[in-house]
Amino acid sequence: MSTAFKIILGIETSCDETSAAVLLKNGESIQILSNIVTSSASLQAKYGGVIPEQAAREQLKFIIPVISEALLQAKVTKNQIDAIAATFGPGLIGSLLVGVETTKTLSLIWDRPLIPINHLIGHFYANWITEEGIAKNLPTFPCIGLLVSGGHTDLVLFKNHGRYQYLGGTRDDAAGECFDKCAKLLNLPYPGGPIISKLAQKGDAKIFNLPRPMIDTDDFDFSFSGLKTAVFRMISEKRYKSYPQDLAKVNLAASIEQAIVDVLVKKTISAAQKYNIDQVIVSGGVAANTKLKKQLQHNCQLSIVNCQLFIPPPHLCTDNAAMVAAAAFYYPNPVNPLKLQVNPNLSLIK
Ligand code: KG4
Ligand code: ZN
Repeated sequence: MSTAFKIILGIETSCDETSAAVLLKNGESIQILSNIVTSSASLQAKYGGVIPEQAAREQLKFIIPVISEALLQAKVTKNQIDAIAATFGPGLIGSLLVGVETTKTLSLIWDRPLIPINHLIGHFYANWITEEGIAKNLPTFPCIGLLVSGGHTDLVLFKNHGRYQYLGGTRDDAAGECFDKCAKLLNLPYPGGPIISKLAQKGDAKIFNLPRPMIDTDDFDFSFSGLKTAVFRMISEKRYKSYPQDLAKVNLAASIEQAIVDVLVKKTISAAQKYNIDQVIVSGGVAANTKLKKQLQHNCQLSIVNCQLFIPPPHLCTDNAAMVAAAAFYYPNPVNPLKLQVNPNLSLIK
């Protein structure tokens, strides 16, 4: 299902980012007019992760200037906005409240419909955004969706917009969380994914052997907490300590990345093969990982179903409001602003 809404303002504040975006839908094309993303990254780097209270306080300062800037850059006035979409969960409660309460107020004073979006569904819709000047095929249904973010790792089978079957997810840590926690063990700053990935380029993944948890299980569940424990053990071993430390770090970074990627790729391709689906859409911060993209691409082509792979550009993989606005074009179900409540524990499991 799609809507008559042409211009949607999206708002995203589920974790540490404060983001607002204006998107224009023209036929099947969804174009970004603006997508402003700010984060309290310097504070996280200082404290080694997101402190919820602090993130929400920063978001309170940013939210109005970020929305104003999004309208300004898009060159649209509030009168041209057809609807406002906001992430209402899952996420940090204080952060979600900043975005949702602001959206409720704007919806009432501008008299525009409010569309609540599940952040996890929003991530997938980054794949439906057509960047200006770039010709692009859009995913069609059915398709397998892999969500890999800091808080979630899920596999779903999309049958249509709004209709999906949950296949499985992580039983403990998410893939992004595993990158972040392993980085911490290696004394690397938060967020760990991009930095492990950068170091991994100089390393050899064959030097340190790490487990691939649940890679051969006959389901679509994941488990990454054991991998983190294996890394913890590895760095206290004599063999690791006997290497020059810079070399040990890059080799271990390569092993961590390879172990996570191997599991994600194997399970995703197995899902496509089991359900005979020839399209895979990937989303979430970890989808920005180049190794994951290359290995998925390679295995999609090799798979018996010869899958076509969709991964958004890196800046649309990590949290942003453009994906929230994009999803709203396909989930056009406005709610009464006075009744909307945030849901920090929202999931993809129905
Ligand atoms: O989707 P996202 O921005 O926020 C959540 O909804 O969680 O994902 C953030 C996660 C972090 O764990 C971060 O380390 C990871 O995505 N990440 C990466 C890369 N870029 C971000 N992981 C691996 N490789 C990357 N290039
Ligand atoms: Zn996210």
